[in-house]
Amino acid sequence: MKKDLLKLLDLSSEEILEILDTADQLKAMRKAGIQHPFLAGKTLAMIFEKSSTRTRVSFETGIYQLGGNAIYLSDKDSQIGRNEPVQDTARVLSRFCDGIMIRTFAQEEVETLAQYATIPVINGLTDFCHPCQVLADLMTIREHKGKLEGLKLCYIGDGNNMANSLIVGCLKVGMKVSIACPETYKPDPEVLKFAEGYPGMFQCTPDILDAAKDADALYTDVWASMGQEGEFNERKKVFEGYQINDAVMAVAHEGAMVQHCLPAHRGEEITAEVFEAHADEIFDEAENRLHAQKAVMYLLMK
Ligand code: CP
Ligand code: NVA
Repeated sequence: MKKDLLKLLDLSSEEILEILDTADQLKAMRKAGIQHPFLAGKTLAMIFEKSSTRTRVSFETGIYQLGGNAIYLSDKDSQIGRNEPVQDTARVLSRFCDGIMIRTFAQEEVETLAQYATIPVINGLTDFCHPCQVLADLMTIREHKGKLEGLKLCYIGDGNNMANSLIVGCLKVGMKVSIACPETYKPDPEVLKFAEGYPGMFQCTPDILDAAKDADALYTDVWASMGQEGEFNERKKVFEGYQINDAVMAVAHEGAMVQHCLPAHRGEEITAEVFEAHADEIFDEAENRLHAQKAVMYLLMK
């Protein structure tokens, strides 16, 4: 395992599967009531420059369940928000803590933090990617379908951090990926370049029904991500129709599952009916954030 988890592009297929296997074991231990304080006495610093419910709570409870503790640092009440250089934050936290989780805007900030930190750095979402979410997604799909290799995931919506991470994560574990997005909101060029290395496994099209055809898992995310709230009206026009609804479900495989990283906007990227019909899968996915991130912390911080 590498020192950090900055993006799935950095991980080998074996490393991704090792995290998923470890997550399954940690989940089984928790369900059986077996204590697992593998990180006793260790401290995770959690830097948040954007909002969060799932990421904060799953990391914080996760480190407690592993016997360690967490410190929450928001940009509003730490020196980070007053422009202390990330290089200095990295070196200071490395003297006190055993790991850093960061949620911010620029991927470069996370990369620089990791470069200067002597302790593991975990990306809790940037504008470029959301690796922890996709590890939980892969864990959930494998739980429900019994395998990953050979399955097809279709993502409908903005070519954003979620799309970027899903493309990389799914292709690396042998899944096919199709992205349905408007021409002007495609995934990151670096990720599209990566996907070129998987001929016959990847498709990016504005045609939603074509993308969803025979999918085993359908995935969507908000039309405007954190930091893009001011673009919402403009985006609403472009993304109209980029929605998981009955028509989309009808062309997917029978028994196709639905995933959403949450928070969800019913009536926009997904209908209320499809959301509720697949709520068990979606909330298993949310729960698996806990187990997948405990696996990441265990493997990086032990
Ligand atoms: N899916 C996800 O990362 O949720 P939060 O923004 O609530 O952390
Ligand atoms: N694309 C969304 C994901 C939230 C988990 C965002 O960045 O806001």
